[in-house]
Amino acid sequence: MTADLFTPLTLAETEIPNRVMVSPMCQYSCEDRDGLATDWHFQHLASRAVGGAGVVMTEATAVEPRGRISPEDLGIWSDEHADALAETTAFVRDQGSVPAIQLAHAGRKASTSRPWEGHDPLQPGDGGWEVVGPTDEPYPYEADAPPTSAMTTEDIADVRESFADAARRARDAGFEIAEVHAAHGYLLHEFLSPVTNTREDEYGGDFEGRVRFPLEVIEAVREVWPSDLPVFVRISATDWLPDRESWTVEQSIRFADRAAAAGADLIDVSCGGVHPDQEVPSAGPGYQIRYGRQLREGVESDVAIGAVGGITTPEQADSLVRNGRADLAIVGREHLRDPYFTLHAAQQLDREDAVEVPPQYRRAF
Ligand code: FNR
Repeated sequence: MTADLFTPLTLAETEIPNRVMVSPMCQYSCEDRDGLATDWHFQHLASRAVGGAGVVMTEATAVEPRGRISPEDLGIWSDEHADALAETTAFVRDQGSVPAIQLAHAGRKASTSRPWEGHDPLQPGDGGWEVVGPTDEPYPYEADAPPTSAMTTEDIADVRESFADAARRARDAGFEIAEVHAAHGYLLHEFLSPVTNTREDEYGGDFEGRVRFPLEVIEAVREVWPSDLPVFVRISATDWLPDRESWTVEQSIRFADRAAAAGADLIDVSCGGVHPDQEVPSAGPGYQIRYGRQLREGVESDVAIGAVGGITTPEQADSLVRNGRADLAIVGREHLRDPYFTLHAAQQLDREDAVEVPPQYRRAF
């Protein structure tokens, strides 16, 4: 039977009721709450669960304070942070959605102001902090980058532990999917890409060296994450830097199989972010979907594939599942425009039977 947008998807032993996922989207809304979730986070995630999405994922949630992109990012580096998210996960689950968390570390791209304040690098003493990466080479901003230091092997072990601790807390908070963020030029991607990883120790150099730390993180998360619950990994399938030695789709395919062996159930296929010289081919409809398909065709394991980028219509989301190009349609900005994307999709695709409208809203759908 051909799967469609409303066919449940079982990963690990968890059933996701449909194939729509709310893509992780930073809300930069902790204000002075130091990484603690606020009412804004509750409404952002809760309303999209009311809207019927099968998976509702948090924004990039920092596993340690220096891994935040901006000072206002969400974090999960203490039990208090986990407690602040528990009400949200309970509500999301009550609506029939699967609550998911993206575990993240921004690496050398940490310590910037939020987009609506310029997204500029922040210096220590001016709201920012010292950042870390595979080397001490800073991100090439036009303005001065915050001080950047190369991680020692001890730092690597500590951050790996922070990911595992964060996953443990996320489970306590009620999340049912943990996604490891290894995309968009943040810390784990910085280790994967030869553009940013010029280390000469066992965590750099050839493919094996560059994938070592990200794979260790996936294994560490998988170890603490219950085996009946899925682990996702978001990658950038390509650096979009054809003019230099960089991370490519071919390497992503090899990495996806290795990530699956390390415990990943789904690869969430995004692109870019490691260097400002990147050449984005087009930002039109479905602009990244082809990479998901390339991974799907290239991987040897049976790891599931999530596609993201420019999915804005129910027909598009439905056809990519029907045609077998991806198992999950991951929808970002369209969910900001329409929190009820999945309810509207069910109407437009004549599948009202497939999604339960909350009784409070039935007179409108
Ligand atoms: C994002 N994106 C993003 N990605 C990610 O992995 N973690 C994150 O926290 C964020 N934050 C974020 C905030 C905002 C406001 C936007 C618009 C985007 C990227 C996002 O998840 C998605 O991959 C892209 O937006 C492309 O998908 P759409 O928007 O074309 O469906």
